[in-house]
Amino acid sequence: MLRRLLQQASTPRRLFSPQSSPPLFKKCSHFSSSFSSKSQNPNSHFVEHLEDQPNQPTSTISIDRSALYNPPEHSHEPSSESELVKHLKGIIKFRGGPISVAEYMEEVLTNPKAGFYINRDVFGAEGDFVTSPEVSQMFGEMIGVWAMCLWEQMGQPNRVNLVELGPGRGTLMVDLLRSASKFKNFTESLHIHMIECSPALQKLQHHNLKCADEDSPRENVEKRTISALAGTPVSWHTALEQVPSGLPTIIIAHEFYDALPVHQFQRASRGWCEKMVDVDEDSSFCFVLSLHPTPATVYLMKRCKWAGLDEIKKLNHIEVCPKAMDLTRTIAEKISSDGGGALIIDYGLNGVVSDSLQAIRKHKFVDILDKPGSADLSAYVDFDAIRHSAKEASEDVAVHGPMTQSMFLGSLGINFRVEALLQNCTDEQAESLRTGYWRLVGEGEAPFWEGPDEKVPIGMGTRYLAMAIVNKKQGVPVPFNEEKR
Ligand SMILES: C[S@@+](CC[C@H](N)C(=O)[O-])C[C@H]1O[C@@H](n2cnc3c(N)ncnc32)[C@H](O)[C@@H]1O
Repeated sequence: MLRRLLQQASTPRRLFSPQSSPPLFKKCSHFSSSFSSKSQNPNSHFVEHLEDQPNQPTSTISIDRSALYNPPEHSHEPSSESELVKHLKGIIKFRGGPISVAEYMEEVLTNPKAGFYINRDVFGAEGDFVTSPEVSQMFGEMIGVWAMCLWEQMGQPNRVNLVELGPGRGTLMVDLLRSASKFKNFTESLHIHMIECSPALQKLQHHNLKCADEDSPRENVEKRTISALAGTPVSWHTALEQVPSGLPTIIIAHEFYDALPVHQFQRASRGWCEKMVDVDEDSSFCFVLSLHPTPATVYLMKRCKWAGLDEIKKLNHIEVCPKAMDLTRTIAEKISSDGGGALIIDYGLNGVVSDSLQAIRKHKFVDILDKPGSADLSAYVDFDAIRHSAKEASEDVAVHGPMTQSMFLGSLGINFRVEALLQNCTDEQAESLRTGYWRLVGEGEAPFWEGPDEKVPIGMGTRYLAMAIVNKKQGVPVPFNEEKR
């Protein structure tokens, strides 16, 4: 099946338009960076056509975050009073005390007026970071292979909800649909649901999926929006709960969990204290530790119970993500009642996460409290907590993985795909392909690289992990079935 899917996938799109390799990845603990120029194309922010500008400045980033856990000494430039800063200070003032890091993170990312994601395209060279779907078309194609294989295992139902959580520019879904468009039985079964909180990104996804309203809707039936890429209906929602139930469902969450707000706890002489965000005498944001147990302590206790004493004993900091636990519960319940499965790919750990929250603005790490709303905040995903949450929610689901992205894409056949694409491309496209391939599956610096040191592609093959939650009726999904052999 895999080989057949890979051979039959339709014409490559981005490979055959001149495109340089994207500048760098989001969320490396350290990496070399290079900045691509804005394309001359006025529509360049719509997915493709990034071009390298070799003379642009480059930098190597190494971050000292030691001050992060030393609240009294924490200091930084006073934030300019943007609407979001005023709003955050207003909450702290009227609440009469500090807010949790989770509440701060949620406001910074998704405040409906001024959140980081809400009003603009934050991806690519002109944005703040680059993600795997933006690195290479092969990423979305491989996710398409995974979804089609699961659909086969589900017995090829003729109606399926395909849900993507946090689709960004929509690039993953574009590549998935383009490459799956020859498999009519599959694409004709799909109703796509995009879960996106940002009106600006919803608009971009609508454009990139080449969506249009259906001309003549049937009587008494709501007008549908159809993607011209494979003739599939597409709907937008702001939460998974809004997706209608009753149909088997395939859920994709790529770099979604890392954007969910985390609570941070620190071990102190009086026990575990929650780290909070306050305003100091200079009217700057600062971290303080809670004096009393906070509501999130319930989640900390739950997480510690799952982990066991030995793992916790070694840690002085712990992050917990109640929203990730709740989302996983919703996913597991949906899959349990409707059938299907979910694929979660993100960077993270298969265990308790200690201190991972980071801020990235324009491809550089910055202080978490600096100019809130102008930098992405993200945290490592705790895959072990996802597994526990799913199993706790339903006995009908099985959890597989996590396995490394490298293993996941490799087992799905990305090697065959890159070979096939290399058969028919220019030298420039071949370089872009090889670089993209390394970035998706490699570990560390690319050994084949002959260009400038500061532009060496860094692989994200082992830092990113893949996990599947499936209805047990479906059996073990590819490629997790190979793990057991
Ligand atoms: C890190 S980006 C990942 C984008 C895309 N999956 C990719 O890999 O390129 C996170 C995405 O999730 C969306 N998002 C973040 N928090 C959300 C929330 N609470 N509800 C809905 N969408 C959210 C953002 O707007 C963005 O589209």
